[in-house]
Amino acid sequence: MKLVLASQNQGKLREMQTILEDLGVEVVLQSQLGLALEVEETGTTFAENSLLKARAVMEASGLPAIADDSGLCVDWLNGAPGVYSARYGGVGSDEERYRLLLENLRGATNRAAHFHTAIVCCFPNGDVLQADGDCYGTVAYAPAGEGGFGYDPVFFVPELRRTFAQLTPEEKNAVSHRGKALRDFAVKLEEYMKEKGIHGTDK
Ligand code: IMP
Repeated sequence: MKLVLASQNQGKLREMQTILEDLGVEVVLQSQLGLALEVEETGTTFAENSLLKARAVMEASGLPAIADDSGLCVDWLNGAPGVYSARYGGVGSDEERYRLLLENLRGATNRAAHFHTAIVCCFPNGDVLQADGDCYGTVAYAPAGEGGFGYDPVFFVPELRRTFAQLTPEEKNAVSHRGKALRDFAVKLEEYMKEKGIHGTDK
């Protein structure tokens, strides 16, 4: 079975392909099918945005399509930046965004935060699968670490006593929102394929 990933991101393709390989599922980027469509993320939840993207690509390609949406939710800021994580404050770089976050938490008495990922897969027959993952931690007082992207330098994982940016990719994948959502999705897709009698090698 072929799944189209509603994204331009090679990194996401690799992650998705690695975890779904065992099911015999082939994941391709929408661009590999010549689909240039850019879906606006107008939803107010991660799941809504994922559904918007997956549905649009499924309709355009006629193939099952998968999309994910993630972000950082900070308790003190009532869940912000949340679905607006990529464009928080309208500033241009990852560093400017996490510096703005630190600024907005100045004097905060609670620094609890979590990352969330929602993955949605839409099938041409109308079926929809959804999988989610969370990673709970706190917003550090200052950035630490060189790895990762986005808010990684300021997201502190208490059990590991390090920020996401201080973890190896394997360590991050084991505890991250995206890693958990992907593994949850693989389980749900396998169950769905069994239920429908679909084999990985089926077209
Ligand atoms: P996306 O939906 O995966 O593209 O994520 C949207 C935004 O959320 C990114 O641009 C980042 O700012 C933030 N984000 C999502 N996942 C992570 C992560 O694992 N580390 C740091 N920032 C993340």
